[in-house]
Formats: sequence, structure tokens, C-alpha cells
Amino acid sequence: MKKTAVAPSNIAFIKYWGKADEALRIPANSSISMNLSGAYTTTTVDFSTAYTKDEVSYIDTSDMDKLTRQREFGYEERKRVIEQLDRIRKSAHINTCAKVMTQNTFPKGTGIASSASGFAALTVAGFAAAEASLNEKELTIFARMGSGSACRSIPDGYVFWEKGDSSDTSYAYSLYPHGYWDLRDIVCVVDLKEKKVSTTEGHQRVETSPLWGWRHRSVDGRIEAMKRALAEKNFTSLGGLIEEDCLEMHHVMQTQAPPLYYWNETTVVLMENATSWRNRGLPVYFTIDAGPNVHLICEEKSEKHVLEQVKTISGIESVIVNKPSAGAHLVESHLY
Ligand code: DP6
Repeated sequence: MKKTAVAPSNIAFIKYWGKADEALRIPANSSISMNLSGAYTTTTVDFSTAYTKDEVSYIDTSDMDKLTRQREFGYEERKRVIEQLDRIRKSAHINTCAKVMTQNTFPKGTGIASSASGFAALTVAGFAAAEASLNEKELTIFARMGSGSACRSIPDGYVFWEKGDSSDTSYAYSLYPHGYWDLRDIVCVVDLKEKKVSTTEGHQRVETSPLWGWRHRSVDGRIEAMKRALAEKNFTSLGGLIEEDCLEMHHVMQTQAPPLYYWNETTVVLMENATSWRNRGLPVYFTIDAGPNVHLICEEKSEKHVLEQVKTISGIESVIVNKPSAGAHLVESHLY
């Protein structure tokens, strides 16, 4: 059967960095995220005896030449997709090959994590195409095995990924639906190159950082405080905790061996400016994932003012304004 799913990317307010179980992608700590309306992946999966091997490709929407083309994935990416198809086949008791086609709304190489939306869309479309009906919790567990952060792209809106202590207990669920609080994530894309060190590789070296033990002990308290800030819609408290967790994760990254420096000059300029805009009365906070792009988090009422300030900064390649979004879901129209 052929099925298509759409899944949003997500921005982590509390970061997932470090794994308790490498193979199963069980994280060292729980995390909290918001799904993003402006950055998502559409994936069509067709399991059929017509295919003699798995065919995996993506539609390249790179705006370099304003053309869209069908392209093959590189070796590593293709291998990860096929491993996920194997998990789906095993669970659904089928052995047919599949054709997978995928497309992102954001060009590959904008530095926005495509593995979260990509593995969420692949998991939802794949199980539907294999005619296996899984509930949301089960889908998040399978998405997690493809890429940890992908489990947070399946439930609606504001999402909690419970770290758990086994595959069955490490899953994601919605804390609040996307309509709960009209926040914005204004992504300032400052570098179009793909990251040099993959997150999967980075996670593996987390224990080499002397700050790792500190993070491990502090993150649970921050999670509880963030849950309270979300429940009370206390933006000042939420924003402070978002920045604190981002900086803590990057300090761990930067003190790993070898160190991981994801920021560039414009990243730092934006971090400094977010702080001074805030000191001048504009409530905006930054967060950064495994790349140089800066996510500016604000409430809807401040969006216009933040965008005006962003225009004054040089070195920004593009800006993507995101609202909170629904999670992964099936759609009727297919990519092929
Ligand atoms: C910095 O989910 O990409 O974005 O499980 O190895 O695929 P794998 O890692 P991935 O790690 C995401 C790390 C992060 C923080 C976050 O999204 O929580």
C-alpha cells in the first residue's frame, strides 16, 4: 500500500544530548520541545512486490538554481532509512521491498534538523503503508529508534519525551496541544552548509566532558521548573530556562573531546543582541541546536518587533517564522 505522512521539525526547549543506550537511542535525560509549523517533511512509502530492492530518494528543493530534482541519499542516510524500514517490516510481519520518497519544506543544508521530521514522517507513513495500526505511543517509540528527536515530532504541539529505562518506557507525549500558547520560533539561518559532525557522533562523546556530570544532575530540576512555566504560561521563566539549557548543552559540547563548536560569528552576535533587546524591554530568548542557526523564541505579540530587530543584523541568510504545530499525520496526496 502507498501512504504519505507529513511531520514537523521540532525545537528542543530542554535538549537531548547524550544517550543511556546507543543502539536503542534511549536518552540520558528527558526533554521538552515545540513542533514547528514552518519546517516539515512529507514522505510517501509504498510497500509492493513490484520492487526488487528498497528505493530511497528525496526531492531536492535547494533554491540554488530554483529547480527541484529527485536525488539519491548518501550511503549513511540511506542505511538509516533502510534500517527503519526493516524495523517496520519486522513489526508488521511483511517482507516486501519499499519505495520511499521524501521532501522537506526547508532546503537540505539550511542547518535545520531534518532527521526529526524525516524519521517521524517515515515511521507514520511506513506503518500505515504496511497496514499495521500502532497507537501514538508506539509510533513515538519506533520513531525514536530512527532518530531520538524524531519521537517528539509525532505528538501534538508541546511535547515531553520521557527518557524511560527501556525501549517501551522511552516515549513521547503531548503536554499541551499546539493551540495552547501562541509562541513563535523565529529561526535565523546564518549558515547554509551542512554540519561537519553529525549529532549521532556528537552524542557518543558526551561523557568526555567534565561538565557532563553537572548537566546530568541539574537537568531534572530544570525540567520540573519548565513544566511549571508552561502550566502557568510564564514566558519570562520559560525563556530563561530555555536559554539556560541551551547554554549548558553547548558548554558540554564545547568541552567534549574533541570539542564541538557549532557557533559562528553571527550566532554570537544574535545571542548578544537577544540579551540586549530583552534588556531594552523586548521579551525574546534564544536557543541553538547542533548548528550555528539561532532560534529566537517569543510570544505572538512580540513577533513583529523581533523581526524588525533581526533585519538590523548582517550575516543572516534567511528567516523562518514558526508557530506551534500539530504532530505527524497522514495526508491524502502522495509525492509520486
Ligand atoms: C542538539 O535526534 O539528531 O538537536 O538520536 O543520534 O539521531 P540521534 O540524534 P538527534 O539529536 C538531536 C540533538 C539536538 C537536541 C535536541 O533536539 O534535543
